[in-house]
Amino acid sequence: MTKGHILIVDDEKRIRSALAGILKDEGHEVSVAEDGSQALEMIEKDTPDLIMLDIWMPGMDGIAALQKIREQWPDIAVVMISGHGNIETAVKTIKAGAYDFIEKPLSLEKTVLTVQHALEAQRLSTENRRLRHKDSNRYQIVGDSKAVKELERQIALAAPTNGWILITGENGTGKELVAREVHNRSRRFDKPFVGLNCAAIPEDLIESELFGHEKGSFTGATVKRKGRFELADQGTLFLDEVGDMSLKTQAKVLRALEEQSFQRIGGNKTISVDVRIIAASNKDLKKEMEKGNFREDLYYRLHVIPINIPSLRDRKEDVPLLVGHFLKVFSDELGKPLRTVTKEAMEDLLAYDWPGNVRELKNMVERLVIMVPGSHITRMDIPESLRKEHLQPSFRDAKKEFERRLITKAINACNGNISQAARRLKIERSLLHQKIKTLGLD
Ligand SMILES: Nc1ncnc2c1ncn2[C@@H]1O[C@H](COP(=O)(O)OP(=O)(O)OP(=O)(O)O)[C@@H](O)[C@H]1O
Ligand SMILES: [Mg+2]
Repeated sequence: MTKGHILIVDDEKRIRSALAGILKDEGHEVSVAEDGSQALEMIEKDTPDLIMLDIWMPGMDGIAALQKIREQWPDIAVVMISGHGNIETAVKTIKAGAYDFIEKPLSLEKTVLTVQHALEAQRLSTENRRLRHKDSNRYQIVGDSKAVKELERQIALAAPTNGWILITGENGTGKELVAREVHNRSRRFDKPFVGLNCAAIPEDLIESELFGHEKGSFTGATVKRKGRFELADQGTLFLDEVGDMSLKTQAKVLRALEEQSFQRIGGNKTISVDVRIIAASNKDLKKEMEKGNFREDLYYRLHVIPINIPSLRDRKEDVPLLVGHFLKVFSDELGKPLRTVTKEAMEDLLAYDWPGNVRELKNMVERLVIMVPGSHITRMDIPESLRKEHLQPSFRDAKKEFERRLITKAINACNGNISQAARRLKIERSLLHQKIKTLGLD
């Protein structure tokens, strides 16, 4: 059962104490206020999960208070307490954002049940908001190198237009991330963003994936199916790894994309759509074109707005920010404490070339968040494969790391009490202080 902090607002003392009694018996934390303005003051100091709000009160009444609460604290659930024969007003309050109402005289059962439901709904909506927030964080483009700033400038310029975009960059540089960002910042942001990875789909299925098919149009087509092109109507179609389409498919696709109309496979009705195209490739499409692997007309059509994302090794100044960002993302997600990266460990990360770009870095940070026990990520935690030969830790470094861990463990075990930790380590307190300083543990 969901327990919560409930604020009861009613001018009648009898009602306040009766309700408080019921809710305390149910295990909730309860506070009381006599009118709307007192309630608002109390909310300001200690925000409750749920407010039981009387409709008729002298001073600021329940309707006015409800309005204020909805504006300032959208996460608090509000249940109105309605006088007998006041149903019409009570119903109106629901339109104004109250979760539900209970009627005087109060029924024990109905009160308990309504409170229970309201608290559950409140918890869900808070959780949703948190997830949405996390989501928006998750898809943020992190970096403050010149290259990333230039990228953001290009996105800002390109997004509001209807122009086709070709995003190029090595694997894991963030091509899809940029495509989504363009979509989110365009007028189509509340319409679908539909992706099709041309490299992941067998050549002979690409057309059916794009255009859909009618029932019975080929073996296996047992039901009618809409294609991605149709699903993206009004929105954006993201053609990932566009360089992997065969020349034949490229021709068909180009025609449909240009005409913004097509027929489902096995169908004869022409379907018109309004779709913006964003394509991406990790191949050099110009070279592919010169080699005859990519159609010239499609290349020039896609190349209206080219966006190239540089490799991570060409903008290493973004590495610390990216590491910090993903440490936070994964600590939140996995419910782990936020770690810091020691200077030496960061040197290793900066020296590495990141052939898998941001995706590789992201995966590595996730692994560190899961695997590293202490509060610091040290050189010893960085996978061997990532360290350059000359960056293999020296005996001195290794000794330092060992001391750092031992000391951190002892201090944590003694809840931060240095004298106790020193005794546990069997060293002088002054030496421990000195070590804490030199090892950068303060
Ligand atoms: N600048 C960045 N800031 C934050 N996250 C990023 C950044 N660049 C990439 N990422 C993250 O790295 C991962 C890889 O990015 P994405 O899938 O967009 O790359 P891609 O270029 O499409 O890769 P591939 O060519 O392998 O498909 C994603 O989880 C993405 O969110
Ligand atoms: Mg991709």
